[in-house]
Amino acid sequence: EKEGYDYFMIKEINEQATAVRNTLTERNNIQKIIDDLEDINRICFVACGTSYHASLTGKYLLESLAGIPTDVILASEFKYSTNTLNEHTLVIFISQSGETADTLKALDVANESSQTLGIVNVAGSSMTRRAKYVIQTQAGPEIGVAATKTYLSQLTAIYIFAALMGKNEELLEKLNKVPSYIDELLKDADVVKEIAKIYNVNRDGENVNDFFFIGRGYSYPVALEGALKLKEITYIHGEGYAAGELKHGPLALIDEDIPVVVVLPPGENHRKTMSNLEEVKSRGAKVLAIGASNDKDLISKSDDVFIINPEVDDIIAPLVYIVPLQLLSYYVAIERDLNPDQPKNLAKCVTVE
Ligand code: F6R
Repeated sequence: EKEGYDYFMIKEINEQATAVRNTLTERNNIQKIIDDLEDINRICFVACGTSYHASLTGKYLLESLAGIPTDVILASEFKYSTNTLNEHTLVIFISQSGETADTLKALDVANESSQTLGIVNVAGSSMTRRAKYVIQTQAGPEIGVAATKTYLSQLTAIYIFAALMGKNEELLEKLNKVPSYIDELLKDADVVKEIAKIYNVNRDGENVNDFFFIGRGYSYPVALEGALKLKEITYIHGEGYAAGELKHGPLALIDEDIPVVVVLPPGENHRKTMSNLEEVKSRGAKVLAIGASNDKDLISKSDDVFIINPEVDDIIAPLVYIVPLQLLSYYVAIERDLNPDQPKNLAKCVTVE
């Protein structure tokens, strides 16, 4: 079933353009749900893990495109935060499996006061039966424990939902080009393989134990997700941080033994994140940047760069810039002789609270 790939994870990473393309066909269904919603004045996303990171992107999208105040709550924390929900609140649950106990429990609570929408990959799962509205993501079955193509399909559904809520035809057009950007960068997967060999060890050739991932705005959840993938698959401590928050504490940790991955697409945040990059460089950190192929400033100031088509601007970057970070975790795991499909202590579906 691995169809010639060594592991499901790398197979599923390579299926991501298809996962996005197939989920884009849900547009009419998503529009129907939007037409049916009653007087929404607030949105609240609830999810765990990778699905939580997709939700964080959703907050930025809905607030900027549709002007709807949006919160994001971890499913396991939801019950401590329900007092202000009402029938004008739409609570959106994001789950690949549709069976995560924390998320289902929160769904039952939200159903008592609010309108509920599940964004789910597994058809017929508990969430599809319990949420008032359902958007089915079209990633197909995901076997690897680490969520990859389901994450991109969740993001795709969220982008369509936010673009339709905000009547933003331009963004809907841009989304159609995302599969080709993903396939284009996957052709350079071997570049990430080489980068993984370099970043797996420090200057003395010893295994690296810590990584930072930084980004700003739409790139902040990408940094969080890059760090989570690294933790899960390689057991390396990966810390995702908002680029601007580094100076409020963790900058004290940065030295030449900690690589910093900077997620830096072109866009209005560029200058500010560049100055965060310079901050970590001046403390000796080795900097791996993910950025546009025509970004001379970034290329000259980083130790290594993985380049992306410059047409990918910061709003659609989460759908594209995460892919090299998934590949980085995968290839570091391979360097360390770990099985990326079966990380220790983790299950594909977490059915206990
Ligand atoms: C990360 C991962 C987990 C899940 C989380 C939620 O790669 O797989 O963090 O994202 O357990 O699972 P779902 O989306 O099935 O509710």
